[in-house]
Amino acid sequence: MENTAPERKKRVLSLIQPTSVPTIGNYFGALKNWKNMSEDYDCIYGVADLHAITVHPEPALLRKQSQEMFALMLAIGLDPEKSIVFFQSHVHTHSELAWILNCYAQFGEASRMTQFKDKSQKHAGDVNVGLFDYPVLMAADILLYQADFVPVGADQKQHLELARDIADRFNTRHGNTFTLPEPFIGKVGAKIASLQDPTQKMSKSDTNPKASVSLLDAPDTIIKKFKSAVTDSEACVRYAEGKDGINNLMSIYSCCTGKNFEEIEKEFDGKGYGDFKLAVAEAVVNELKPVQETYAKLINDKAYLNECAKKGAESALRLSYRTLAKVQKKVGLYQL
Ligand code: TYM
Repeated sequence: MENTAPERKKRVLSLIQPTSVPTIGNYFGALKNWKNMSEDYDCIYGVADLHAITVHPEPALLRKQSQEMFALMLAIGLDPEKSIVFFQSHVHTHSELAWILNCYAQFGEASRMTQFKDKSQKHAGDVNVGLFDYPVLMAADILLYQADFVPVGADQKQHLELARDIADRFNTRHGNTFTLPEPFIGKVGAKIASLQDPTQKMSKSDTNPKASVSLLDAPDTIIKKFKSAVTDSEACVRYAEGKDGINNLMSIYSCCTGKNFEEIEKEFDGKGYGDFKLAVAEAVVNELKPVQETYAKLINDKAYLNECAKKGAESALRLSYRTLAKVQKKVGLYQL
């Protein structure tokens, strides 16, 4: 007889650090895909608050920004009835698996992580072990849930490769335990650049406020920021090497409208950069409008946010504990 047991849906997982309001880089690189994938997959999305403490944010600020990030995740359209939406620190299995995985990660490979090297330079006075161990905790986040796909921006690709290497090493030694996760990196939007230095990625921590657009910027602020975006002197909207500023604006416009680069070039044929920048700004304002409206309602409903977070943590714990228990047994920890 044919086996008609339903296959489990593929699983998707991703987290975001609650360090300040996310930018449109986070949104187009990751969050928008989170929302889109939540229609077809079993999804688990989290606020990476344990990752955030590696740079010692002010505690009251971290608490506030964590709550804001959670509200924003719901505001972009993640449905806590359908997906697991949770805070990483509420689910103890993350730290516990991270410790075990530390014993399967090599010092050399962790030292080669470019984000570790960048952050060590930026925080030269405090290169703590947490910064170094950051990708191993990230591997634990992913492997605990047997995630098939991990929607992230291009900057996280190397961390994903490390997670796969750790999983593979563990599986080789102890038998099949972890699903090997695949990064899901969108074709456009995977690397949104700074509006002021388009050779650099747009970052939440940029000290120049004109360089990044946050999901909660007011429409007139968004328009001002795009008007002052750095471009080039060619005055022709076309996607080409060396035109980093225009390429970036075209990517952002493409993410908002779904148009490809050829269609965008046609639309702005014969028009100047002023018109193009305004069109990009307006497309972003429209894209963010429903998110901002929903966020404004949610952020004042602490009881609802807490209820969703509690439910998310319970589901995440139930699911992740299965993997942790298996791992504990495989490595030989004494069982009661
Ligand atoms: P974080 O908080 O730095 O960024 C969240 C997501 O946004 C993406 N991103 C970008 N995408 C396109 N253009 C940009 N300019 C841009 N800037 C950021 C990031 O790639 C990321 O997908 N370590 C992770 C958080 C994390 C995680 C995980 C992710 C913790 N555990 C497990 C996936 C799976 C981070 O710091 O992301």
